[in-house]
Amino acid sequence: MSTTLELDDQGTRTTGGPQVHPITDTIGADITGLDLENLTPRDIRFFRQAVLDHCVVRLRGYSIDDDKQVELGRYIGALTGSSVRRDKEFDWSKKYPELVVISNIKENGETIGVLENGELNWHTDLAFDEVPPSLSLLRALEVPESGGNTGFANMYKALESLPPRLRQRITGLRLKHQRSHDAQGRPRVGFEHLSADDVSALPGPVHPLVRTHPDSGREALYLGRRFGGYIMGLDVAESEELLDELWHYGTLPENTWHQEWQVGDMMVWDNRSTMHRRDNFPAEQRRRMHRIVVLGSKPY
Ligand code: SIN
Repeated sequence: MSTTLELDDQGTRTTGGPQVHPITDTIGADITGLDLENLTPRDIRFFRQAVLDHCVVRLRGYSIDDDKQVELGRYIGALTGSSVRRDKEFDWSKKYPELVVISNIKENGETIGVLENGELNWHTDLAFDEVPPSLSLLRALEVPESGGNTGFANMYKALESLPPRLRQRITGLRLKHQRSHDAQGRPRVGFEHLSADDVSALPGPVHPLVRTHPDSGREALYLGRRFGGYIMGLDVAESEELLDELWHYGTLPENTWHQEWQVGDMMVWDNRSTMHRRDNFPAEQRRRMHRIVVLGSKPY
């Protein structure tokens, strides 16, 4: 896929229709002027190209509901769900099984969504699947007064930031992305019997540490999430040491930007070229986000 955008010196599209406005030099752009009621194939190509170029795009000031979010996701690709088994069934999954509510809001004493209000460490969505998603679309319905920002890291830049000896060292190495435990080290449903003491023994798909983006052709560092990662063929101690070093470069502040949410914002990010994280926020402040993910391809 390649479309050429007509951009001025600031990277702003100069022709009519949708425009892309970079938020930082490193990552993130706003898209204005999209007519979501009358999307054309050209708009969709424009949108996909903007995500490719800026890794993360923001739609702000649009009127987007669940139907529109799902429609946009389906224009971009096939929607997919999470392979993680949940210990309860949520009402929201009945209309759109692919839609996930991320929220700390409680109704009748029960949280209405997942991931609640704690900090979420840097990660890439569903890297522990054999075929992880390409894009994620996250929309804010309620935002807290403080906290709850979502940070994004550019993983092309992370790879470029590695010292040459480290870049050389990871050539050809592959990382196992364990799928049995969550980011806090708690076993997921169905894996309660597994201890995470030996990360090399945990189940999960193996992906290259450096992946080639299938659309841009560029190489990016692909770390997934820190907890339980294991670099194949190394001693666990050596793998841990190397991962710590890679994670340092993977999250350099100069390669990141944090989104401060407004109600109605929708962020669309490319899981093949980014990681993201979330700040915690006060438990008594409501936050409600709806997320869908688009099917990707096996990393190579
Ligand atoms: C996520 O990690 O997909 C959720 C991010 C957020 O809640 O901001």
